[in-house]
Amino acid sequence: MRNFLNYREARQLAMRRLPRGIFEYIDRGSEDEVGLRHNRIALDTVRVKPRVLGGGTTRNQKVSLFGTTYDAPIIIAPTAFAGLVWYRGEVQLAKAAAANGIPFCAATEAIDAVQEIAGASDGETWFQLYMWEDEYLWRQLLERAWNSGVKVLVATVDTVVNANREYNVRNGFGMPFRFGMRNIADVICHPRWALGVPARYFVSGRIPSFENYPEAYRNNLFAATKSLRLQPGLNWHHVRKLREVWKGRLILKGILRADDALQAVNVGADGIVVSNHGARQLDAAVAPIEVLARIVDAVGEQMTVLADSGIQRGSDILKLLAVGAKAVMIGRASLYGTAVGGMSGASQMIGVLRRELDIAMALSGCEDICKLDRGLLEMP
Ligand code: FNR
Ligand code: LAC
Repeated sequence: MRNFLNYREARQLAMRRLPRGIFEYIDRGSEDEVGLRHNRIALDTVRVKPRVLGGGTTRNQKVSLFGTTYDAPIIIAPTAFAGLVWYRGEVQLAKAAAANGIPFCAATEAIDAVQEIAGASDGETWFQLYMWEDEYLWRQLLERAWNSGVKVLVATVDTVVNANREYNVRNGFGMPFRFGMRNIADVICHPRWALGVPARYFVSGRIPSFENYPEAYRNNLFAATKSLRLQPGLNWHHVRKLREVWKGRLILKGILRADDALQAVNVGADGIVVSNHGARQLDAAVAPIEVLARIVDAVGEQMTVLADSGIQRGSDILKLLAVGAKAVMIGRASLYGTAVGGMSGASQMIGVLRRELDIAMALSGCEDICKLDRGLLEMP
């Protein structure tokens, strides 16, 4: 496996390895990609005021989330199509998470089924739900997740419609793929990927599809079957319903306002992810770090607040935790690691972030991740 020292290098390697259609699906934002740049600027604008000469010799990154202690304050974010980045990519991610003592959140739109992913490692698997219109079908899926040992459900609430991502249209990226000269050439120019990913699925007798979908709706890369509609007009009433149905912990992902966070408390959610979906949905959305303090202060101890979007360095994690998040999710970082070397690559990326976080903690004078505080930061 090619070595990389940081997020940027992993991204460069992934860009070379993956067909352009897949790389852009992962890498880019929506519309004019102001949000992507803004997430970066917002994190960079917050600066650290290091405390000197007070630190110990070692640092502790362990955190407790929903009754389980993890080795680092990092969760691998749910990402659709991860099984196209590497053969059985979701299983690779689950194993990398387990090796690092952190949870992996499997997506509704994973290429592998939740029971396969959860069964592939002894780590903790969380599950992300896109609620379909047909209640019977999503209840069946949740039952499958529960029976596979999933205890934490992440319901995504910022995706009531598909975002405007014009590059996917141009690239013919979707389920099913729209093949044209351009993406056929794209695949031919990436033989390592073509042989390592789709060819391996075919040899094992599979055409990549969304295995969490009910069989009648399981579109594959080449053929559309019946389409499965997301719940139109998803609202708080649907989340209440979900709260009634799901016996485990419930997290709402994609909250950016204190009033919505309080509403999440009201409907009985156990946590939220303050997130703009990695700047992939509303291009004009605020960055999580700009609104996190207000949200954390509003909900207090009533729920667990997580955050994501734009994390590329350990110091990004340190900042979000100092503002008040208990842990963060990483999306693109783990996918770039996977693209470079499957489980080893994903694991290496997590290791890089953990090391960077350790250095940032040491240089800031912080021994225990749970003791990070806002006084460490200079906020705009
Ligand atoms: C995502 N994300 C996402 N979120 C979700 O709730 N369900 C999903 O299916 C997906 N799919 C998905 C695919 C890809 C390729 C990416 C990059 C992201 C969003 C993801 O969970 C997370 O919020 C962001 O990725 C965080 O930002 P960073 O770390 O990628 O900058
Ligand atoms: C995405 C969707 C699947 O971000 O959530 O691509």
